[in-house]
Amino acid sequence: MDDLREKYLKAVADAADEAALEDLRVQAVGKKGEISLKMRELGKMTPEERQVMGPKLNALKDEVNSALAAKKAALADAALDERLRAEWLDVSLPGRPRRMGTIHPVSQVTEEVTAIFADMGFAVAEGPQIETDWYNFDALNIPGHHPARAEMDTFYTHRAEGDNRPPHVLRTHTSPVQIRYMEQHGAPCRVIAPGRVYRADYDQTHTPMFHQVEGLAIDKDISMANLKWVLEEFFSAYFGAKVRTRFRASHFPFTEPSAEVDIQCSWEGGTVKVGEGDDWLEVLGSGMVHPHVLRAAGVDPDQWQGFAFGMGIDRIAMLKYGIPDLRAFFDSDLRWLRHYGFAALDVPAVHSGV
Ligand code: PHE
Repeated sequence: MDDLREKYLKAVADAADEAALEDLRVQAVGKKGEISLKMRELGKMTPEERQVMGPKLNALKDEVNSALAAKKAALADAALDERLRAEWLDVSLPGRPRRMGTIHPVSQVTEEVTAIFADMGFAVAEGPQIETDWYNFDALNIPGHHPARAEMDTFYTHRAEGDNRPPHVLRTHTSPVQIRYMEQHGAPCRVIAPGRVYRADYDQTHTPMFHQVEGLAIDKDISMANLKWVLEEFFSAYFGAKVRTRFRASHFPFTEPSAEVDIQCSWEGGTVKVGEGDDWLEVLGSGMVHPHVLRAAGVDPDQWQGFAFGMGIDRIAMLKYGIPDLRAFFDSDLRWLRHYGFAALDVPAVHSGV
């Protein structure tokens, strides 16, 4: 019995953690533990032997149990002390200042444009940036041999030999969204579609990725006059002053008649100012949607007609906020972003009245 006491008291004292303690408990006083088995042997003893051994065994069991409990409490105390030592926080330290991010001019202008057209009853649509050549070209009355395909400097996606899916392109304009929207919603409709477009082109005023916003209004009697009013209304709201527009006859396969639209500006001192002066700056292409385009989108051209336009978002962002080089838009230069970006709670917009 003394051997047992010595063995377990020492083992308990040496136990490194709670799991070791639990093992010891099972080994000593568990159902099949060494001390428990000894207690079972009491039954086979003579009453005299039992009278001596019984209390001794019980005392041993109690002693081991309380050693286990005491060690368990000591281990918990030690663990808490260790946590108190290791986990601490100096709440008196000054905070680490972090620069706030800004809203990119393209995001900002997209918001402004959307708000102004929403005010005129236009919904907002989106389409995929990787398009089939049917949506990007054919449905827009640009057949395979048409020079407009070559002029657009199109990026084609790679196709492995034997891949017989239709050819895909990075959309060269937002006009395919016209087709997708009319296919889904039919006529009448009034919608804008802002988004990224791609052309293999790079200089001070061209980047291989840029942004357009498409406009489309189809109804029974929509005319060029409505187009002109909508655009003048838009530019005046966007630039915050009356802006004169000039419609120049032009050609797009998907509109007939077609017009390129310029806005009035001045070039004094090397910087451009919109809404004054005698110069003109081209900002968009537009026209009456070609009957072939309506038909391709499942809209009956004998019943419906309307206008479409496509405007460069980056271009009008540069004009409004005096940003000289388009390429800087997409350089992710933090100094540029801090200078030309907008604070999240301080953005100009028609609906915020700023
Ligand atoms: N998609 C034409 C372009 O990218 C712009 C445009 C849109 C012209 C709609 C007419 C009508 O240049």
